[in-house]
Amino acid sequence: MLRLGVNVDHVATIRNARGGQHPDPVAAAKIALAAGADGITAHLREDRRHIRDDDMRRLRREVAAPLNFEMAATDEMLAIALELRPHACCLVPERRGEVTTEGGLDAAANVAGLTEFAAALRAAGVRVSLFVDPDPRQLDAACRIGAPVVELHTGSYAHSGASASELERLERSARHAASIGLECHAGHGLDFGNVGAVAAIPELVELNIGHFLVGEAVFGGLGGSVRTMRRLMDMARGAR
Ligand code: PXP
Repeated sequence: MLRLGVNVDHVATIRNARGGQHPDPVAAAKIALAAGADGITAHLREDRRHIRDDDMRRLRREVAAPLNFEMAATDEMLAIALELRPHACCLVPERRGEVTTEGGLDAAANVAGLTEFAAALRAAGVRVSLFVDPDPRQLDAACRIGAPVVELHTGSYAHSGASASELERLERSARHAASIGLECHAGHGLDFGNVGAVAAIPELVELNIGHFLVGEAVFGGLGGSVRTMRRLMDMARGAR
């Protein structure tokens, strides 16, 4: 079965907009798992713009399902990952001013550094994944680095309006990854309209999806929240 990892970063984005505790990404993770997700993904960025250190600690402690810790390959993140020992670490590129993870990791240009980094995680029992563009050069590099997993960046596919050529790139890359022994995941920009064709790629074993699900939850849940508020207000006035 194709696994679904739910990324709860943007629950934290909404929480941080007001600086309080609500909505709590850990509570959101539990709802996602109860609804059929297989694992939880969270990206601890250098600038802590959404997920924070305490969120990662609580996700590790309070959520029994596999935790995929997305992080840049920095000494600071390595120390946190070695302390938390999540199920998996997905290494992503991180640029300070970017709105989201804009492209894949250039694994081919940094084989030596990433090999050492991945070895430290592997020694701690953490499964290492590299978030890369659907490019055979990057997949071959992941193999040389010793990462057992790659996650294909589906951003170009999603932003192209699910074009046939971008889909073909993903299909070819997933086939190539599997043929060289890599476990292949995919994610970024997936939504109800474009997920089907990606989910049909037989070599993929996991999709990681976040922003769309959190955005869509507003539409799925706003009616219920307003109804509850209406009821509480009316009860306070003795109307119901
Ligand atoms: N996978 C990785 C490695 C990511 O960096 C992201 C975005 O944070 C996702 C999956 C999820 O992308 P989206 O939020 O667009 O669904």
